[in-house]
Amino acid sequence: MLELAEVTGAYGNVKTLFGVSFSVAPGSVHCIMGRNGAGKTTTLKTIMGLLTPTGGTITLNGADLGSESAENTAKRGVGYVPQGRRLFAELSVAENIQIGLMARRSDPATRDWVLDLFPPLKTRLTQRAETLSGGEQQMLAMARALCLRPSVLLLDEPTEGLQPSMIAQIRNVVMKMRCDGVAVVLVEQRSDAVLTMADHVTFLENGRSVETLPIAGLKAAPEKLTHYLGV
Ligand SMILES: Nc1ncnc2c1ncn2[C@@H]1O[C@H](COP(=O)(O)OP(=O)(O)OP(=O)(O)O)[C@@H](O)[C@H]1O
Ligand SMILES: [Mg+2]
Repeated sequence: MLELAEVTGAYGNVKTLFGVSFSVAPGSVHCIMGRNGAGKTTTLKTIMGLLTPTGGTITLNGADLGSESAENTAKRGVGYVPQGRRLFAELSVAENIQIGLMARRSDPATRDWVLDLFPPLKTRLTQRAETLSGGEQQMLAMARALCLRPSVLLLDEPTEGLQPSMIAQIRNVVMKMRCDGVAVVLVEQRSDAVLTMADHVTFLENGRSVETLPIAGLKAAPEKLTHYLGV
């Protein structure tokens, strides 16, 4: 179980998170929604250890995660796919996956496993990452993060700018991870994608978690999307 309780954070002197709380059980998908600038990316960076919380607690299975470096957070089994995908642009698909494998255990079985999750990558192993389509780059970014065999997976807007067919492939992999018992934290702006993937949704407003509800609760009260997102 990943648990955040009243997490606060800042970039230097600029306070950004004012109290973020939610918990994510293994085998579930927890969506974070909120307007641009609400603090979604900052929340994921803070879980990942790229930013140190200034207050509150972050725990994984009861053990403190809030004071860990990003490297140690990854070693604890947290995988992270940043917004915008950040691949090694000039390296090939195979080399990007190799870097993911080096992060923990570079066994060939893991390589086969991630490539089986994203079959389109198999035919592009020697292609430079920067020449992949947007959807293929998202697949590669996810494949690289999954090389860790994470128990927690943080995904920052994985469907941003993608066509429906690509979104469906990303969704399939998210649902497979959920079946495998992974706790998925998904930042997602598209309500259609959220409603088909999420178990719970937390809305962020101005750096604060203002409401968490099960997906059935959101389906019963769709006006919350308009209220919190203005869509
Ligand atoms: N490196 C930084 N230095 C200073 N302030 C930052 C930095 N990164 C983000 N912020 C600020 O923190 C706030 C939250 O940003 P964040 O990127 O977490 O929002 P978001 O919810 O992910 O938005 P979006 O939907 O646009 O991706 C914003 O006001 C932003 O300007
Ligand atoms: Mg963001």
